[in-house]
Amino acid sequence: MEQKIESDTSFVSYPLSMIFPDKFLPGDVYLYLDGHFIKYKETGDFIPAIRFNQFMLKKHKFIFVQINDLEKFKQWSTSIQDKIDGVIIQAVGQSNAELVPLIKDIKKAAFDFLSSDAKDQIAKDILDKTRAFVAKVNERQTTQDYLLKMLQYDQGMADHGLNVANISTYLAINLGYTQQIILENIYLGALLHDFGKTLIKAKFLENPESRAYKQAILKHPEYGKNELIIRGNYPEDVLKIVSEHHEKHDGTGYPGQLKGTKIYQLTKIVSIANDFDNIVMSYKGEIPKRQANGLKELEQWAGTKYDPVVLPKAIKALKLVLAK
Ligand SMILES: [Fe+2]
Ligand SMILES: [Fe+2]
Repeated sequence: MEQKIESDTSFVSYPLSMIFPDKFLPGDVYLYLDGHFIKYKETGDFIPAIRFNQFMLKKHKFIFVQINDLEKFKQWSTSIQDKIDGVIIQAVGQSNAELVPLIKDIKKAAFDFLSSDAKDQIAKDILDKTRAFVAKVNERQTTQDYLLKMLQYDQGMADHGLNVANISTYLAINLGYTQQIILENIYLGALLHDFGKTLIKAKFLENPESRAYKQAILKHPEYGKNELIIRGNYPEDVLKIVSEHHEKHDGTGYPGQLKGTKIYQLTKIVSIANDFDNIVMSYKGEIPKRQANGLKELEQWAGTKYDPVVLPKAIKALKLVLAK
């Protein structure tokens, strides 16, 4: 239950970007509403991913903690992040460890981008970081399988964007795309594909079952594209990926009901990657099992949701790394 606190001198802000959803909290968490600090979660409770995403969509950059708990929260964030880094470094191997901090930088830039109205600097930052990362990936003469081994299993929106970007870029390379500029565009388009969700009016978010919310969701690809045009100089490829990522091969997708060859080739890859990450995250249990289920689900949709030529190649490439 939310509970009102009278004194407000003993609270400090804590960046939402340092909070991990679904992890047990080391202290009480407060929100600042209408001039009051309101207890939102107790020690040992957790912030569900869905609420975490809502905070982000409402452009909250901070939650609040008691000043006495600040150190505990800092240690908590650091230790969870260290654990995640350790697992990833072990998965990708020491030879690829230098990529891990770059991925972390991109996640931070994506978080800032998705949760902010600020334009120039953040828009440029995400471009620079994406380019630096993709350049490193592209100059390595390896299978790029580490891109899939870096996937994040938290459910924040930035994590989802990062996963879709890594999966899409891995697939693009395996489908024969080699040009740096193409790979940069697919990475950035995939990273920001759901950006339009952050533009849905806060009042609609309160009720995900409402007609208004559902209609707004149907428009998130267009919202995203239009706002990206306003924010910066993003390449046409990136805009296409964002606006088309829910189109389906048989023409039953949205918002344009585009069919087959009308859907851009790079978008087709991102659509598969997006659905794959969503399916994997919708299951519970061990990751390999969730991934195997995800691959099975994708296979059912060749020729309907997905291009019948692209899908088998994508599945083959994913199985090379994930089915082991
Ligand atoms: Fe989407
Ligand atoms: Fe998505």
